[in-house]
Amino acid sequence: MMNKSCTTIACLWLTSFFILSVAIPMRPQLTPDFYSTTCPDLWNIVRNEVLNAMKDEIRIAASLLRLHFHDCFVNGCDGSILLDGDEDSEKFATPNLNSARGFEVIDKIKNSVERSCSGVVSCADILAIAARDSVLLSGGPFWYVNQGRRDGLVSNKTLANLAIPSPFDTLDTIISKFDNVGLNLKDLVTLSGAHTIGRARCTFFSNRLFNFSGTEEPDSTLETEMLIELQNLCPQNEDGNTTTVLDSNSDDLFDNHYFNNLQYGKGLLSSDQILFSSDDDETTSTTKNLVQYYSHNQRIFFMEFAYAMAKMGNINPLVGFEGEIRKDCRVVNSQ
Ligand code: HEM
Ligand SMILES: *[C@@H]1O[C@H](CO)[C@@H](O)[C@H](O)[C@H]1NC(C)=O
Ligand SMILES: *[C@@H]1O[C@H](CO)[C@@H](O)[C@H](O)[C@H]1NC(C)=O
Ligand SMILES: *[C@@H]1O[C@H](CO)[C@@H](O)[C@H](O)[C@H]1NC(C)=O
Repeated sequence: MMNKSCTTIACLWLTSFFILSVAIPMRPQLTPDFYSTTCPDLWNIVRNEVLNAMKDEIRIAASLLRLHFHDCFVNGCDGSILLDGDEDSEKFATPNLNSARGFEVIDKIKNSVERSCSGVVSCADILAIAARDSVLLSGGPFWYVNQGRRDGLVSNKTLANLAIPSPFDTLDTIISKFDNVGLNLKDLVTLSGAHTIGRARCTFFSNRLFNFSGTEEPDSTLETEMLIELQNLCPQNEDGNTTTVLDSNSDDLFDNHYFNNLQYGKGLLSSDQILFSSDDDETTSTTKNLVQYYSHNQRIFFMEFAYAMAKMGNINPLVGFEGEIRKDCRVVNSQ
C-alpha cells in the first residue's frame, strides 16, 4: 500500500521536498535565547556595564542608542560602525564624525563579556543589547533583543553618508532612507521618539536660528522663547560644538515628552519639527496624528517603540557562517 502510494506524483514531491529541506537548510534566524547555553550571563554583564557607564555620565545611554541606529542603517546591524580605520571608515562619515560616541563603553562591555565567555558573542549583538538597556535604564520600555548577529568585515563611509538621515533632509528624503532599510513612516515617527534623551550640537540646528533657508529670518516654526535661548547658546561665529538637550524639560528621562514639545514648536532639529508641520498633505497628517497620539499615551508609545527597535535590530543581519565574531570590536580578526 505505502509503496504503491509512493509512486504517485504527490509522494515524489514530498520526498524531494524532504531532501531539499535537508540540503538547503533554512537561513538561520536571530533569537533572544541564542547565547543561553554559550554565554548565559550575557544579559547581566551588559546591563551592569551600561549602568556603570551611566553613573559616570547619564548621556552615554543616548549615545549608545544612537550608535546602534547608525550601525543598523549601514549594511545592517553588523557592528561595522565600531571598526576603527582610515578616513574611509564609517566613523569619518558626516553623521558620525565628532558626533558618534560610546565606543569606549562598548570596548569595556566586550572585555567583560570575553572574560566570561570568550570568542562567542558578536560586537553587533553587544551593541543591540546595550541600546536596549540604555532605553530601559533611562526609564523606557523593555524588549527581548534578538541575537545571533555576526560582525561585518567592511566599514563603508560612502554608504554611511548616503544611508543615515541628516537633520537637513526633507521629510521625503528621510522617509526614503527609512524605506531603504525596510522601515515605514510609522517606524520613523516612533523611532524619532529616541530624541527623548541625549544632546545635539549647534552645528546640527544653527541653520534655523538666524538666516533660515536664505530668508534672513529664523525658522518660523521654532517657538520664540526657545529660539532666543538657542540664539544665545549658538552665536553665529562660533564653532558649532556647543551641545544642548534634544528634549527640553525632560532631558535624560526616556518618556513621551518629546512628542509634547513638537506640538509647541519645541523640536530641536528640523527633522524633529517637520513631524508636526503645518503642511496639509497625507504624509503630514499621518505624522501629526502619531505625534499627538504618542503625546497623550506613553504606554502605547513605549509598546510601539519596543516593537520598532526590535524591527530596526533585525535589519539585514549577518548570520550562520557569514562575517565573524570579532575579538576586538575595533578591528577585524584577520588584522
Ligand atoms: C529620523 C531621522 C534622524 C535624524 C535626522 C537624526 C539626527 C540626529 C542628530 C543630528 C543628532 C545630534 C548629533 C550631534 O549633535 O552630534 C542626533 C542625536 C541623537 N539621535 Fe538621532 N536622528 C534621527 C533618528 C534617530 C533614531 C531612529 C534614533 C534611535 C532609535 C536616534 C537616536 C538619537 C539619540 C539617542 C541622540 C542623542 C545622542 C547623544 O546624546 O550622544 N535618532 N540625531
Ligand atoms: C560602499 O557603498 C557604496 C554605496 O552603496 C557602494 O557603491 C560601494 O561599492 C561600497 N563599498 C564597499 C567596499 O563595499
Ligand atoms: C542669508 O542666506 C542667503 C543664502 O544662503 C545669503 O545669500 C545671505 O547673504 C544671507 N544673509 C545674511 C545676512 O547672512
Ligand atoms: C569641534 O570639535 C572637534 C574636536 O572635538 C574639532 O575637530 C572641530 O574642528 C570642532 N568644530 C566643528 C565645527 O566641528
